[in-house]
Amino acid sequence: MAGEKTADVGAAPACLCVLCGLPAAGKSTLARTVLRTAAESGWRATVVPYDDLIPDRAFQSRTVEDRVSLHDAPTEWKLHRQVVLQCIERFFMKPAVVAELPVKCQINGGVWEQCIQDLLRPEALDHSGPDQKPLVFLLDDNFYYQSMRYEVCQLARKCSLGFCQVYLHCELESCIIRNQNRPQPIPTEVILEMVKRLESPNPQKNPWEKNSILLNTTENLSKSGINRVMDLISSALNNPLNPVEDNIEQKEADRQKCATSVVHQADQACRRLISEAMKTARENQVSSEHMRSVATQLNESKTTFLQNFKKQILQQTSFTQEEDLDVEHVVKKAVAVFDHEKKEILHRIINDHK
Ligand SMILES: *[C@@H]1O[C@H](CO)[C@@H](O)[C@H](O)[C@H]1NC(C)=O
Ligand SMILES: *[C@@H]1O[C@H](CO)[C@@H](O)[C@H](O)[C@H]1NC(C)=O
Ligand SMILES: *[C@@H]1O[C@H](CO)[C@@H](O)[C@H](O)[C@H]1NC(C)=O
Repeated sequence: MAGEKTADVGAAPACLCVLCGLPAAGKSTLARTVLRTAAESGWRATVVPYDDLIPDRAFQSRTVEDRVSLHDAPTEWKLHRQVVLQCIERFFMKPAVVAELPVKCQINGGVWEQCIQDLLRPEALDHSGPDQKPLVFLLDDNFYYQSMRYEVCQLARKCSLGFCQVYLHCELESCIIRNQNRPQPIPTEVILEMVKRLESPNPQKNPWEKNSILLNTTENLSKSGINRVMDLISSALNNPLNPVEDNIEQKEADRQKCATSVVHQADQACRRLISEAMKTARENQVSSEHMRSVATQLNESKTTFLQNFKKQILQQTSFTQEEDLDVEHVVKKAVAVFDHEKKEILHRIINDHK
C-alpha cells in the first residue's frame, strides 16, 4: 500500500467490528451482507478474513490438541494475529510515522491489499470527499477467547476508533452440519473443542465488551438482525474509544490471559496423568466397558478440577502476569490435588471390577 494513500483516511469516523463465533456460524455471510448494506449507507467497509490472511491455518496437519493449544501459546499463530492488527494500525497511522513493520511471520499480502483497496477505491471516496465517508473494518475470525478480542479493542483505543462486537450464536448441530456441507470442512472435533473454550462476550464482566450484541444465526439472517448490526456499528462510529488507557480494564484482561495460560498448563499435566491412569487400568485387566467408565470419570473430574483451579487463580489479587506467579509451583501443587482424585477413581474401579 502506498504511504500517501493512508492520508486519505484522515478524520473520517472509523470502527473495528469483531465478528466472533464458531466455525460455520455464518460470520462470512453476515460480513457480505453488512458490506452491501454499508455501501447503501454511504460507508466504506471491508472484511478482514483471518482464514485467508493467515497462511496454513494448519487445520490439516496437526492433532486436535495441537491445533487448539496452538492458539493459546505465544506461537506463530498468535504472531500472525498480531501482524493483522499491525496492518490495520499502519493503515490508520500518518505516513510519516509509518516505519517498516517488523513482520516476523508473513500474512497473505495479496489478500490484505484487497481489503485496503476496497476502502481506497475512487468511487468509495468521490462523493463527499475523502475524509467524510465512515470506515468500517469487519474482523472475521472465531475470536473464542476474550483475550483475542481484547487485542482488537486495545488497537481501537490506541487509534481512537469505534469498537463493537457481534457474537454469532449458532446451535452447535447447525454449525456442524453447515461445516460438513462445505467444500473443505474442518474436523468436527475442532468445533467441539472450540465450544469448550468459547468465552462469549460478557459485558457484565468486561466493561470494554459493552458494545456487543448476540445474533442468533441458527436460522437465516433476518432483516431485523442486520438492522441491529448496522445500529451497533453506527453507534461505534459515533463513539470512538479514548486512547487514554484504562488501567483497571487492562489489568483485568492481563489477569484473565495469565489465568488461561496457567490453567492450560495444568490441563496438559492432567492429561498426562489420565493417560497414565488408563495404562494402569489396562494393565490391571479392567474390562473395556469399565475402561470407558474410568475415562469418563477422570475426564469429568479433570473438568471440575480445572474450573475450580481457574476460579482460585483469579481470586488471587496480586498478579497481573505470569512473572508475578511461580507458575511451575502453582501448577504442580494444584495438579497434585487432581493426582490424588485420579488415584481414588482408579483404585475404586480396579477393586470393584477386576
Ligand atoms: C436460536 O434460534 C434457534 C432456532 O430458531 C432456537 O432454537 C434457539 O433457542 C435460539 N437460541 C438462542 C440463544 O436464542
Ligand atoms: C433460508 O435461506 C435459504 C436460501 O436463501 C432458503 O432456501 C431457506 O428456505 C431459508 N430458510 C428459512 C428457515 O427461512
Ligand atoms: C471429556 O469430556 C468432554 C466434555 O466435557 C468430551 O467432549 C470429551 O470427549 C471427553 N473425553 C473423554 C476421553 O471422555
